[in-house]
Amino acid sequence: MLDNILLEENIDRITMPENLAIGLMVAEQHQKCSSIGCDFDYFGFAFGQSPFHVPPPLARALERAAVKSGYADAEGIFELRKAAAGFNARHFGLDPDPERIIIGPGTKGLLFLLFSILDGEIIIPVPSWIGYAPQANFLGKTYHPLLTSHDNGYKLTAEDLVSFLKKHDKKQYLLVLNNPNNPTGAVYSKDELSSIAAICRKNGIVVLSDEIYALTTFNFSAFTSMGIVYPEGTFVLSGLSKDRSAGGYRLGICYLPEADCRKIKMGFKKLAATVYTNVTTPVQWAAMAAYSENDEIEEYIAITRELHRIMGLTVSKEFTEIEGLQVTKPEGGFYFYIDFNSFKDNLKFCGVNNSNQLGKALISHPHHIATVTGDSLLLPPDNYGARIAFVDYNGQRAYEAYKNQRPSSSKEEIAFVKEFAPLMVEGAAAVSDFLAMVKEGKFKFS
Ligand SMILES: Cc1ncc(COP(=O)(O)O)c(C=O)c1O
Repeated sequence: MLDNILLEENIDRITMPENLAIGLMVAEQHQKCSSIGCDFDYFGFAFGQSPFHVPPPLARALERAAVKSGYADAEGIFELRKAAAGFNARHFGLDPDPERIIIGPGTKGLLFLLFSILDGEIIIPVPSWIGYAPQANFLGKTYHPLLTSHDNGYKLTAEDLVSFLKKHDKKQYLLVLNNPNNPTGAVYSKDELSSIAAICRKNGIVVLSDEIYALTTFNFSAFTSMGIVYPEGTFVLSGLSKDRSAGGYRLGICYLPEADCRKIKMGFKKLAATVYTNVTTPVQWAAMAAYSENDEIEEYIAITRELHRIMGLTVSKEFTEIEGLQVTKPEGGFYFYIDFNSFKDNLKFCGVNNSNQLGKALISHPHHIATVTGDSLLLPPDNYGARIAFVDYNGQRAYEAYKNQRPSSSKEEIAFVKEFAPLMVEGAAAVSDFLAMVKEGKFKFS
């Protein structure tokens, strides 16, 4: 009788991704809590999903595209690549040549394909988004976490790269640069990118620039794509998941570097055709509505960007007021980062011995604060940091209220957040209460 099916060893090198793991943890905590008569809500700072509705032109286009049932080219349908190239040219000043664009199953899927076809070890600035390292582990690729510092706004610097290169062999490296950054909310300036690009150029480092949050940059005119400053060596990755709130559509785009563009594309097409043939054809046709010139889409992007700014700045300020916490001020994306290291001794006294346990302590009853900490951010165990996602509110309600009456002063913005995202404000107070207990030694982690 067959009672034990053997799995490939590399599946044990990865664990459940952060969002699902935390989802399960919250569900489990709910059960535990209800068993002691607790029906308290969770402070949902863990999930990085857009709170907004799909922009109506995109949703309507998907309905119309239902009949497009044929297989498509592995690199993506030409009309979409053309629209995406035009969109990138309009918003970021990138080359409008559709031959430089490939379509893939989300940024995550594109990264996996690129890690699979590109030679070289991976450099990951830390704290990092959870997605990169598990893919490297699964593929058996070596990666190097490079710890960044609060003093540099948790941004990788050219000096960090130079000192890394001094200690490592000369070979091709793949630098993953996430801008705007998940988890810190940092945005790299053009000068910062240029000095990183100079080192990359000199040392043949390939950049995978994950710009999935680019359009959410609060001061959008200050955003520069790495594809502009280092066109020969940068893959620019983005998609519909974040700024057009369509994570489940699984549509990502990649802008290929100038150097060896054709060769890379052939590698990509071979792998895509071998593994999944093409990204769902109706989704590709629908996506054209999101990338073509369209005032409704532009208005949607502008309003949601403003709402992210109002939420991000207001909620991060609430955290800044908690004495002893070091908090980043987000400049784009859905996140900011909090450093708990000044509480390390108190936390250890309470039995919280590493950054993974910090996440568990925060979510425990009666605190109920869901965050992402520790390994998920690639942090060393003794570095107590957490990512706060500021997207836990009813986006459509906030969107409509904002459209009817925009808050016009910082006082009105604070009132807006309190009205439309009360749980995030209360969540900051919950973190403050948690830390007060920790400082007084009244919290016991078990
Ligand atoms: C930095 C970063 N890159 C990529 C992704 C995944 O994007 P996609 O939905 O396009 O796969 C996420 C999603 O959370 C992210 O935060």
